[in-house]
Amino acid sequence: MSDVESSRMGHPVSGVTTPSAPPIFQTTAFDVPDLDVLQQLYSGEVTGDIYTRDSNPNHSALADSIARLEHAEAGAVFASGMGAIGSIFLTLLAAGDHVLVASSLYGKTLQLASRMQRLGVTVTAFDVSRPEQLRAMIRSETRFVLVETVSNPLLEVADLPAIVDCVGAVPVVVDSTFTTPELIRPCALGAALVFHSASKYLNGHGDVMLGVAAGALELVRPLRETASIFGQNANPFESWLTQRGLRTLALRMKQVCETTRRLAEFLASQSGVRRVYYPLLSDHRSVETARRLYPNGTGGIISVELAGTGFQCVNQFLRHLPTIPFSPTLADARTTISHPATTSHRFLTSQQRGEAGICDELIRISVGLEPFELLAQEFAAALGRVGV
Ligand SMILES: Cc1ncc(COP(=O)(O)O)c(C=O)c1O
Repeated sequence: MSDVESSRMGHPVSGVTTPSAPPIFQTTAFDVPDLDVLQQLYSGEVTGDIYTRDSNPNHSALADSIARLEHAEAGAVFASGMGAIGSIFLTLLAAGDHVLVASSLYGKTLQLASRMQRLGVTVTAFDVSRPEQLRAMIRSETRFVLVETVSNPLLEVADLPAIVDCVGAVPVVVDSTFTTPELIRPCALGAALVFHSASKYLNGHGDVMLGVAAGALELVRPLRETASIFGQNANPFESWLTQRGLRTLALRMKQVCETTRRLAEFLASQSGVRRVYYPLLSDHRSVETARRLYPNGTGGIISVELAGTGFQCVNQFLRHLPTIPFSPTLADARTTISHPATTSHRFLTSQQRGEAGICDELIRISVGLEPFELLAQEFAAALGRVGV
């Protein structure tokens, strides 16, 4: 047996048939027949992957699916949602540039923006509920504007068409993690780039860390290069898992939105609840924008202020939920609860949290795929047991 044959031993083959589910290309590199082919690969005459940090068939398959779902020209995958955001910042910004970020962004995204100041980038925060103020905030060095479709945890809805209109030619970059392309397609509304923490709804099963982005090829290609250079690329298995999750995305989002709407109304009627934040409830400050942009629902997040006082009432409530766990994530297939004051916003002072509207009694519910009746029963029982 030659050396070449022995190096191929153990590679599975399936005769004339092909696997019904896509294979996982769990490989560091790809063997290249000779230097001529290598040259053709680099010049683009032939296509093929060379090294998984640069590209891999599982990355490409997922990137294509995301682009299709977002109605965008091209997609890219990253090691996490933060990997996507980091690659976007490192690609679009250089020393001397300016970026506008919504003040209500995910805490780690704000931390990342703040770190960019060390590299000579100026960052200005804006109030997403006042898009008209953006007109005066744009400078000649402004490279992009960053917003989330729906903010965490108070669920403020960004009026994307108004934002796009107010910033003129400046690209709008949108984090659509909370909403997915089942509920909104930011590129169709004029955004230049959309990205997601695919660790959330796109995968949907709470077992992946991954990020994705989509937009015009001329914007996405440099993102892929940055991901490769800075080691921000995804791995094949998690790309494969997310691709599998996408098969049920439409069904999951439909059910999650329906259950969430019912649960928000139910919780608003409970005496143990002081306030419910859900954009499609008539007392939410974003209700008009939410009804216009999200006729099918705003996703699976509801935030609730318990009627008690302090961390203790939250602890009591959590301890009386037999099947719903406290878990600092969202968009799992299971319903989970988080507590912003001690997780996402723990690094703010209590005064800063107060200014941001995040009190100690606020919990964030990520509604999963359980039947509404089960969830309503468990929440009602826990609210009754703690007597809040
Ligand atoms: C809105 C939003 N964007 C980005 C991220 C970061 O994603 P990841 O945890 O996959 O890095 C998160 C994480 O919770 C998030 O909620």
